Amino acid sequence: MQEAGKGRERVVEVEDLSATTKDAAVVSTKPTKRYPLALWIAILGLIMLVGVYIFSLSLKQNGMLFGLLQTNMIEKEREKPCHDPRIPDTEIPYVHYPTPNTYDREECACMGVRFFAILSMQRSGSGWVETLLNSHPNISSNGEIFSVKPRRNNITEITKTLDKLYNLDWYSSAAKNECTAAVGLKWMLNQGLMKHHQEIVKYFNQRGVSAIFLLRRNLLQRYVSILANAHDSAMKQLNGTHKAHVHSKQEAEILAQYKPTIDKKTLITELKRSDKLAVDALMNFKNTRHVVLYYEDVVKNRTKLMDVLDFLRLPKRKLSSRHVKIHTKRLRDHIDNWADVSNALTGTRFESFLNGRSRR
Ligand SMILES: *[C@@H]1O[C@H](CO)[C@@H](O)[C@H](O)[C@H]1NC(C)=O
Ligand SMILES: *[C@@H]1O[C@H](CO)[C@@H](O)[C@H](O)[C@H]1NC(C)=O
Ligand SMILES: *[C@@H]1O[C@H](CO)[C@@H](O)[C@H](O)[C@H]1NC(C)=O
Ligand SMILES: *[C@@H]1O[C@H](CO)[C@@H](O)[C@H](O)[C@H]1NC(C)=O
Repeated sequence: MQEAGKGRERVVEVEDLSATTKDAAVVSTKPTKRYPLALWIAILGLIMLVGVYIFSLSLKQNGMLFGLLQTNMIEKEREKPCHDPRIPDTEIPYVHYPTPNTYDREECACMGVRFFAILSMQRSGSGWVETLLNSHPNISSNGEIFSVKPRRNNITEITKTLDKLYNLDWYSSAAKNECTAAVGLKWMLNQGLMKHHQEIVKYFNQRGVSAIFLLRRNLLQRYVSILANAHDSAMKQLNGTHKAHVHSKQEAEILAQYKPTIDKKTLITELKRSDKLAVDALMNFKNTRHVVLYYEDVVKNRTKLMDVLDFLRLPKRKLSSRHVKIHTKRLRDHIDNWADVSNALTGTRFESFLNGRSRR
């Protein structure tokens, strides 16, 4: 009996589907008593599905999930014996008390540590800015850790590397270990950062990593620097060694003597490509705690770096670097075929780069 009933139900359901798609009026005249029940169950199921779907969407969009995670982290940090009551709740996800595997932090064990990452592109002044930051007694920025390919092979390797770094177990000349108050690295957008951006953003938010974007406004100047650096990489102009950064005026002058000839056919494509990369990076990482710094602004005004110290909640210090700028003249004096370049860019959205000014 039950079997038969079920069978009939199924038939009715099939009829339903076809009926609803065909003509609703026919449905209402049907005398079957079982039929509304099946319909109700189907509608109820559908409503539940839609409900669950909308709920999961809202969780994602409103960052409720992230909020929950953060609350969780706040609870966890509170339990630690190191908790500092002066740190406001909103800051707690960003203050850490690492316990390195390889040494003891001793008197600084309960000194909060901030995690950061300088996100940048090649030839955008990140080497210079990193040395400036490292001149602070409490900052350890460990360089381009992800220039080594196996470390960025997949997200598992990336996470492992970051975990080691942020646990203060990474050794480099910049590591200040015990009393470090901010630890980080320099990470180029093309070193797995954009490729794995979703997972990395998640990692940054879960572990309370702050991002420091260092970008260049004038992408033509950056392009000249790329070409000149590639040339030196091949020619090794300084007594047979290649230097990406120099520490003396004489060295800078030697490197600046080379004036690249720019392919005017590919120039616009190049500029568009690097512009898009920067825009995409800002988009992808917009939901992290971050600050955006432009190389040109720091060159003009070193005090801009105090904003970074503020951002990392570190005591202000005078910062210094031995790096010497290579290209210091007008842009036209650093490009061999200036007339071509000027022609190619005039009337385009990149025209302002020609006067050494920035577009943004
Ligand atoms: C910075 O490091 C010094 C020792 O190198 C330490 O005495 C000082 O407390 C540290 N400051 C912060 C804010 O961590
Ligand atoms: C990630 O890369 C490493 C090598 O760098 C490899 O040993 C490992 O199997 C890879 N893991 C996954 C999940 O692909
Ligand atoms: C490179 O050579 C120049 C002379 O050509 C010399 O004055 C300079 O000291 C040398 N620098 C190094 C690092 O050897
Ligand atoms: C230099 O930068 C600081 C920090 O952003 C700012 O307060 C100051 O006004 C700037 N100075 C000039 C001359 O632009």
